Amino acid sequence: MTNLSNRVLNMKESVTLAASARAKALKAQGRDILSLTLGEPDFVTPKNIQDAAIEAIQNGKASFYTVASGLPELKDAINTYMENFYGYSVNRNQVVVATGAKYILYTFFTTVLNPGDEVIIPTPCWVSYVDQVKMVDGVPVTVATTEANDFKATVEQLEAARTDKTKVLLLNSPSNPTGMIYSREELEAIGNWAVEHNVLILADDIYGRLVYNGNEFTPISSISEAIRNQTVVVNGTSKTYAMTGWRVGFAVGNEEIISGMSKVISQTTSNLTAVSQYAAIEALTGPQDSIEDMRQAFEERLNTIYPLLCEVPGFEVIKPQGAFYLFPNVKKAMEMKGYTDVTAFTTAILEEAEVALVTGAGFGAPENVRLSYATDLDTLKEAVRRLKAFMEK
Ligand SMILES: Cc1ncc(COP(=O)(O)O)c(C=O)c1O
Repeated sequence: MTNLSNRVLNMKESVTLAASARAKALKAQGRDILSLTLGEPDFVTPKNIQDAAIEAIQNGKASFYTVASGLPELKDAINTYMENFYGYSVNRNQVVVATGAKYILYTFFTTVLNPGDEVIIPTPCWVSYVDQVKMVDGVPVTVATTEANDFKATVEQLEAARTDKTKVLLLNSPSNPTGMIYSREELEAIGNWAVEHNVLILADDIYGRLVYNGNEFTPISSISEAIRNQTVVVNGTSKTYAMTGWRVGFAVGNEEIISGMSKVISQTTSNLTAVSQYAAIEALTGPQDSIEDMRQAFEERLNTIYPLLCEVPGFEVIKPQGAFYLFPNVKKAMEMKGYTDVTAFTTAILEEAEVALVTGAGFGAPENVRLSYATDLDTLKEAVRRLKAFMEK
């Protein structure tokens, strides 16, 4: 007999958090583990943002509940951000703020899905999408993409996955875990397909400002008014502003959906922690130079580590365009070492090479592993050296 609901019994633990916990446990036993598991910048939150938060605490502004959907000043700051980076304006009723983009996504699914409604999710995809859809009795319909198509779904694939139950298409560009970015033309085709078939687009743009080597991020919602009306944008300050601990996520979209999401938030968490909201106002509207410094640091790491990773026997990797992950295909490497299961292979790397990676299995990619390069260059170089030594043994 279990006390747990079927909902929880059917849920998987986040593989990234599990991999990071396993690495930490081995470290605690004294093992010299290098962890490339977490999608978290290794920088501390910029000083101007910290100062704004301290000021809000000290002058008493952070002591109280705010409007459940977020401070009006923060919604205005998000509007400024949308004007600057998306090229269009929104009003306060089109914006909602919550505890991380992760909870924003969950709130969105709760708001729009009836039991049985389908969400098309191109894979490899971030670990939480599939389980979140299931948690609200929606049906995730995964569409597999591969290296052959730069891990991008085509309209033909989406159309093949569409049924009369299709309610949402989830699009994450730049992608976690692949780092690939959809081009304007690709987005236009996908957006028009969604409009034609009345499929909502959930655009997870959280890595939109972390793009490298001249690659550009186009928000799908900026392409046309018809596509924008069909799209809910998900974003947050975690990745761009080195603010994972502050838990600031937001959604921007049509008023009906945003007001539904606000209702869910008002009955669950109430407002995002007030101090984080004041920090976010400064993040979005204050000086942006430290953001560019961090972006450049990620770019340098990518450009240093990518050629080294390409030299690891059996690892085949497309150079990512954004986010901070490398997602090598290790099919050949597994064959060379006698593994058929990528999770077992990842465990062997952890045990023998003392490098913690995330198995591709949790992302819907049974031939890949994910390395996060949101860590310092020395650690990255040593980790790749160990991987090479492991493969050459
Ligand atoms: C694609 C993607 N979306 C959303 C999130 C959630 O970010 P947060 O909840 O920290 O705002 C993450 C975090 O890893 C992510 O990789």
